Amino acid sequence: MSETAKFILGNETYEFPVIVGTENEKGIDISTLRGSSGYVTYDVGYKNTGATQSAITYISGEEGILRYRGYNIEEIANKASFLEVAYLLLEGELPSKEELAKFENEITHHTLVNEKFKFVFDAFPNGAHPMGQLMTMLSMFSAYYPEALNPHRSEEDRRLTIVRLLAKMPTLVAMIMKFKQGHPIVYPNNKLGYVENFLAMTFGHVTEEYVVDPVFVSAMNKLLILHADHEQNCSASTVRLVGSSHANLYASVSAGVAALWGPLHGGANQKVLEMLEAIKEDGGDTQKWLNKAKDKNDPFRLMGFGHRVYKNFDPRAKIIKKSADEILDKMGIDDPILDIAKQLEQAALSDPYFIERKLFPNVDFYSGIIYRALGFPVEMFTVLFALGRLPGWMAQWKELRAEGQPIGRPRQIYTGAAERPFVEIDKR
Ligand code: ACO
Repeated sequence: MSETAKFILGNETYEFPVIVGTENEKGIDISTLRGSSGYVTYDVGYKNTGATQSAITYISGEEGILRYRGYNIEEIANKASFLEVAYLLLEGELPSKEELAKFENEITHHTLVNEKFKFVFDAFPNGAHPMGQLMTMLSMFSAYYPEALNPHRSEEDRRLTIVRLLAKMPTLVAMIMKFKQGHPIVYPNNKLGYVENFLAMTFGHVTEEYVVDPVFVSAMNKLLILHADHEQNCSASTVRLVGSSHANLYASVSAGVAALWGPLHGGANQKVLEMLEAIKEDGGDTQKWLNKAKDKNDPFRLMGFGHRVYKNFDPRAKIIKKSADEILDKMGIDDPILDIAKQLEQAALSDPYFIERKLFPNVDFYSGIIYRALGFPVEMFTVLFALGRLPGWMAQWKELRAEGQPIGRPRQIYTGAAERPFVEIDKR
């Protein structure tokens, strides 16, 4: 007999089914609670709320496990290409050699972004944040591909929208970087692979052929894979919530970018570097900054530390830390910022405040160090996170649509004024 949960309220007992996931994680299905009892559950920040069942990504915060469609992140980050992982997330299975070739070919032939987008870039002031530009440009695609406005139009339309987004996102990100630098845009090159093309458009120049460094390609490929999905985080939940109103995929993904921008989510990678720079400027006293982070009267938090789900270690951080060491070694970079990062990491990991609260470096602590070594300006870091996260957002949206899930609409406990009469003011 399947397990049920009993809920006793006064003289009434309510019974709810227990849902068991593939990895034996359990949830109580309380969807009938309000109808039968008039009560709602209360869980600010959704710390204990399962908003969906999903077959895309599995995370165990206690064991430090991250799997895409059943494949461990350690294996996939070292053996797969980003497009292979995108295919896996979106289609549910790894592609065959032929399927991958077809997918890569299709992506390669949708990389151009309409020339009119350049005028939109011109409308931004210098110094505009790249995440704001990315949000704008992504939602603008809905105007260029109006067949996506009705997400139910056809399966083929939905597939084409996904291909377009995956193909055009690197071009868009590279355009943002070029605009930031005031350099002419470098167009996509169909002879190059996904990551190579992105690096050529970003770091290449129209005046000379760009030689793609395999070390850069491998690092970038790994970073994109590590960011590709992370189940029901703030931005994925946003994409799902927006998508649940039957908004088109461009609008949903643009909303995901907005959610990612915040410093408590994807924006942390930019904040980590800014924090390390500030510590350096301040004389490099890491203990002083650690004390600031522990001081409850000080709003400062150690950026890149802590995670809502991982409470022992972040498996992505483990992989990326190794990658950061390799790249800096290979490139012969001796960066004082890195020394500060190492000191901070060691001090925090042995400090009772951080140990008790299970706060340790997350993926964002190290990703910024690699992005910096590769030559990206700090403000581009969160955009690079979005580039990696795109297949995950789209897989979450696709799953939601395929299952025909209802509109997301949480309840609340109202705490405002009770009913009161409206007293007109004398307006004469
Ligand atoms: N520095 C100092 N103290 C911290 C930090 C930190 N980075 N993170 C959490 N704490 C403390 C809190 O003050 C709280 O202490 P208390 O119990 O004494 O009140 C305790 O640890 C628990 O913190 P919460 O904020 O309740 O944990 P939550 O799960 O809600 O937040 C979050 C997780 C947002 C990631 C948080 O750890 C944080 O703000 N970290 C810094 C920002 C960051 O690196 N974000 C990237 C996350 S990874 C990603 O999105 C890809």
